[in-house]
Amino acid sequence: MKSIVAIVLAAGEGTRMKSRLPKVLHQVCGKPMIEYLIDRLKELNIDRKIVIIGYKGSLVKEALGKRVDYIWQKEQLGTGHALAQYREDLTKFKGDLLVLSGDTPLLTTQTLKGLIETHREKDALATILTAILKPPTGYGRVIRHGDGTIRKIVEEEDATIIELANEEVNAGTYCFKKEAIFQALEKIKPENVQEEYYLTDAIEVLTKKGHKVSAYTTDESDEIIGINSRKDLALANRIMREHILDRLMLNGVTIVDPLTTTIDQEVEIDRDTVIYPFTIIEGKSRIGKDCIIGPAVQIRDSRVANKVEIKNSSIQNSIIESEARIGPYAHLRPKSRIGKRAKIGNFVEIKKSSIGRESKVAHMSYIGDATLGDEINIGAGTITCNYDGFKKYPTTISDGVFVGSNTNFIAPVKIGRGAVIGAGSTITEDVPPYALAIARGRQRNIKDWAKKRSQKRKRNTK
Ligand code: UD1
Ligand code: CA
Repeated sequence: MKSIVAIVLAAGEGTRMKSRLPKVLHQVCGKPMIEYLIDRLKELNIDRKIVIIGYKGSLVKEALGKRVDYIWQKEQLGTGHALAQYREDLTKFKGDLLVLSGDTPLLTTQTLKGLIETHREKDALATILTAILKPPTGYGRVIRHGDGTIRKIVEEEDATIIELANEEVNAGTYCFKKEAIFQALEKIKPENVQEEYYLTDAIEVLTKKGHKVSAYTTDESDEIIGINSRKDLALANRIMREHILDRLMLNGVTIVDPLTTTIDQEVEIDRDTVIYPFTIIEGKSRIGKDCIIGPAVQIRDSRVANKVEIKNSSIQNSIIESEARIGPYAHLRPKSRIGKRAKIGNFVEIKKSSIGRESKVAHMSYIGDATLGDEINIGAGTITCNYDGFKKYPTTISDGVFVGSNTNFIAPVKIGRGAVIGAGSTITEDVPPYALAIARGRQRNIKDWAKKRSQKRKRNTK
């Protein structure tokens, strides 16, 4: 879109959030709320995107990086004051400004397009995005003249009872002719309940002079939700989650119970995968086709190939290859890779380890800092003892090894291909290929020992 500069107001602390994080960095479905707006602006092909930062602005800068330019608002004296910080750029650009509030992540590209088009068709100096909200509580009210033309915006705190009853609210998103808005901003004063320079007051400055202010009203009132409190944040998350699940279902994913399923915005899932209840898929996870995920699975930043089954498990930052079976009650910690058709069973923890094709770690084991080849069988209760209190050490187990139950591998240790480890062994040395390693106390049976002990007891108590 040509000759338009977008300015996102994001300098406020967000006092009502009661948080150490600037408000615009709070996440909606796994993404800081302000990032949604930056994505929309990208879809609109707006080249110049400016974010006004202030309260903990360096954190906002860190999150958005080079995608946008920044202007500091050192003191947060209100939305009007925030926009006025752009003034230094005045001479460089002649055209329209699209002004957005950093706390409105649900706005769609379509609505922003509608706003810009209306602004241009009507050739207005200012165009406000509005919606009808029932109840309109918490928002500035849009006050129109009898003939329907815009008169002003009044903030809730400053409104009369009659004005409060008005259900048309200001979305905090506007289009302006640049020169007109900066002239109007010079006239506004912090003479209101909050003692702030309200951007919204600039509207009345314009209309009083007889200038044309228009409005674009969206029917999708959910879209304009502004997040001021944790309650608003939960509401936005709920609405966004519904959108995400709808999109996935339309793309051929079965979500058995949308009410108990949470999937982040950037997650991708292929068709014919079934997601059972109480499942949370977060971050940049990718799930293939024909998988069965859940119930009660949490997956974060992981890649899951096709035909994988995962039940009641927690998976972070890991790769799972096709037809693998995980759980119930497995924990895959970061940097784990589970090979094709491998099986990770109940009460198994895997950390920073690679498990080869068709290998099985089926019951109650800890595998950390280990590299396991293909077709290995790890018996119940096997532990890689990878930590001596100071450093971590690797365990390497080659293809086809059979590990008996309750084995300890004291790392660093290497087990050669095809070797067999006797159950209950504590392996401290490397095992050559195809050897049997047994490292446990030899069993001694002492004949009639128990019988003699009870006879002795009886004698003593007489
Ligand atoms: C604002 C509007 C209100 C509208 C609502 C829509 C004003 C005065 N009121 O109210 O009419 O219905 O949005 O959501 O504009 N900010 C700065 N610097 C400041 C103050 C705020 O950058 O000095 C930023 C905030 O970080 C935020 C945005 O501006 O992203 C809006 O500020 P906020 O305090 O949330 O305004 P509301 O009270 O919601
Ligand atoms: Ca707000």
